[in-house]
Amino acid sequence: VGALALGSAGAIGYFWTTSKLDTAGKVDFTNPLAVPPLAESTQDPSGARRFDLEIQSGAVAFKDGRETETWGVNGAFLGPTLRAKRGEEVAFAVRNSLDEGTSIHWHGMHLPAVMDGGPHQEVAPGGDWAPQWMINQPAATLWYHPHPHGRTGNHVYRGLAGMFIVDDDESDGLNLPKTYGVDDVPMIVQDRKLDGDNQFDDNGSFMSMQGLLGDQVFVNGTLGPYLDVSTRLVRLRLLNGSVSRLYNFGFDDDRPFSLIATDGGLLPSASETDRLQLSPGERAEIVVGFEPGETAVLRSYPADEGYSGPLGRVNGADDTLDICEFRAAESLTDTTAIPETMGAAPDLADTEPAEERSFSLSGFNQINGESMDLQRIDFGVREGSVEVWEVANADGFLHNFHVHDVQFQVLDVDGEEPPARLRGWKDTVQLVPQRKYRLAMRFTDYTDPNLPYMYHCHILAHEDAGMMGQFVVLGEGESIGQVPAVDSAH
Ligand code: C2O
Ligand code: CU
Ligand code: CU
Repeated sequence: VGALALGSAGAIGYFWTTSKLDTAGKVDFTNPLAVPPLAESTQDPSGARRFDLEIQSGAVAFKDGRETETWGVNGAFLGPTLRAKRGEEVAFAVRNSLDEGTSIHWHGMHLPAVMDGGPHQEVAPGGDWAPQWMINQPAATLWYHPHPHGRTGNHVYRGLAGMFIVDDDESDGLNLPKTYGVDDVPMIVQDRKLDGDNQFDDNGSFMSMQGLLGDQVFVNGTLGPYLDVSTRLVRLRLLNGSVSRLYNFGFDDDRPFSLIATDGGLLPSASETDRLQLSPGERAEIVVGFEPGETAVLRSYPADEGYSGPLGRVNGADDTLDICEFRAAESLTDTTAIPETMGAAPDLADTEPAEERSFSLSGFNQINGESMDLQRIDFGVREGSVEVWEVANADGFLHNFHVHDVQFQVLDVDGEEPPARLRGWKDTVQLVPQRKYRLAMRFTDYTDPNLPYMYHCHILAHEDAGMMGQFVVLGEGESIGQVPAVDSAH
């Protein structure tokens, strides 16, 4: 463990750990993988699919000894999987039963800013919030998590997160594995640290340069999970729901698997690989094949692409971690296949951008030299226009870049074709230090000159410290307005 103070941020002393964590072969896979329940919904009189979500505190026995104090949605820890189809109107009754303010942001969703659940839509303790919108985007694995300004990392770490699966007619018609919890399995991957009393230990680490790194990996809230496999092909919806950690997923026998979807939905066709790197907030769907009777362990391996700070590799980039064991039954059902063609390819490369902007992320809390100010709108974009944003990680630390409301196309990385894992629609992209990522995105449908969407680094310690900015989508003739005062109720 190393510690170093950097002088650049006033009172904040930066430090990070450089020890290498290796749990490969050391995790006992003794607990069946929990599968988050599918959220119940009812039909509104208006025809909307309505979900009731209560944000609450609870306690969970993750291991022997004292129960861990947790937060969850409709339960003690994490939240149910939301599921809806393109074209459907969804309505939520969100109740905050915590004794501090929080919010629910729908990460990856295209929706009006007032429904986005960012820092401007905080729900007071005991308060309610009723967002509603029409799902209008391709089938994808999205997720939801709190976004209260300055406390997102803490709230996610305590347990507030869940998946949001969007279906559409095309995905319904594909012969992909799609039996939820059987051969279509959500995996919310999160590292945490438990103290000697089994409580989540955040030990001031949200103030460290890389944020908090845990020493144990929870999948869907299960420690040491195994999954009984009953089909030849299994689709995993992987979500890096961690506050800081980078994962490079692969199997212990290096078996190949097929990447079928990125953040924003299905790829045009599958791409085969044996490693898949995901930074916090990113999702991917993979399909992996099993033979009868075999077992395989999903691990995280040292990062393929370097992240080095002054003291070495950061954010767990050197770690090897056991994540989940897959145990195939003696006989496996064989009914699905990976279709030759699946989703629509990103198509923004040939559109002349209305505007080009550049963003440089650096240190702990800055984009283009500025920190987040809830009252400052950094810029406005025109509804209907395509913009190209050139984004770079200006230092050696791990950063990534997430944009609300849209899915973007990674046009190129330092002028070269992006790697396969970045060729589908994305809403969050890892930034390898010193490279330039050109992202193309189209802003459609929802305008509001006063209420902004966010863009930020999804290393939550960085986001909370201010590595975030705000933009509004403007209709014709509109100009940037005034952000209503934020009613922040911690
Ligand atoms: Cu996943 Cu602005 O967040
Ligand atoms: Cu988001
Ligand atoms: Cu960052």
